Amino acid sequence: MCHDGAGDVTGRQTAGPGSPSRRAFSRFLAAGAGLAALTACTPDAASPPSSAVVTSRATPTPAPAATASSTAAGSPSATAEPPPASTPTAVAAPAPSASAPGPQHSLSDPVSPWVVVNKHRALSPAAFVPADLVRPGVRLATSGEAALLNSTTAAAAERMFAAAAAEGVTLTLASGYRSFATQTATYGSYVKSRGQAEADTASARPGYSEHQTGWAFDIGDGGGACSFQPCFAEQPAAVWAGTNAHRFGFVVRYPWMFHEITGYYYEPWHLRYIGTEAATDMLTRGIATLEEYFGLEAAPAYL
Ligand code: DAL
Ligand code: ZN
Repeated sequence: MCHDGAGDVTGRQTAGPGSPSRRAFSRFLAAGAGLAALTACTPDAASPPSSAVVTSRATPTPAPAATASSTAAGSPSATAEPPPASTPTAVAAPAPSASAPGPQHSLSDPVSPWVVVNKHRALSPAAFVPADLVRPGVRLATSGEAALLNSTTAAAAERMFAAAAAEGVTLTLASGYRSFATQTATYGSYVKSRGQAEADTASARPGYSEHQTGWAFDIGDGGGACSFQPCFAEQPAAVWAGTNAHRFGFVVRYPWMFHEITGYYYEPWHLRYIGTEAATDMLTRGIATLEEYFGLEAAPAYL
């Protein structure tokens, strides 16, 4: 199921391939096929695809990096808050952790590799533009500003794409940087096509997208048949990325079944740079989301 969240009290998608929710999801994809970038949905299946970096929320590993919040001047408090009334099943905010290994970075400054942008944490300033946008030397499936990343992310992407290619896996850069104006158009297209409620499960509102930071991008596989669709999760590109992205500093930012924390359904194509140490630490500790890792509240909906 992609956007029909009513009654989905756990956030798990359990309908089979021929289920009504699968069909509804397919209809959504068809309706959104002309949109600029992006469908963000959760594939219907009883168990996650092998590419998903998934951990159980029933037995969360203590978040290791909560001191990061104390280094983030102006960052929202990690104190738990009740979820909005419209999302009564939202997962409770994770508790801050006591210590964090390695260097600390701001969770609020958009130039920080640890900036956390979600439905509770708008980019500040809203019109932020990375000063070091560059075009990475990778296979592109897009052009213009969408082919840009900040310089650190670009360098890491080059290393990752080359490593994948060396193993026979094609990765393409499908959507990188998006300006506030572009995100306005993208989100507006979703709203026009599907209404705001569904749009909010797939596309960030302007000023709330990681793509605007330069730290995130979407991958493709050069084929296109499953681009931005649930079946991408089973493609070699996504499987490879789910297994190896941490080695290059990336995490799958919107993992399977964690939309009640991240605010978005599974996006196996959306990678976010946080550095190799933190990305590896998250994987090792079995922590799936940045919200949990940094001890921040869940952000299932806009405040
Ligand atoms: N699809 C992600 C959530 C974005 O629009 O930034
Ligand atoms: Zn994305």
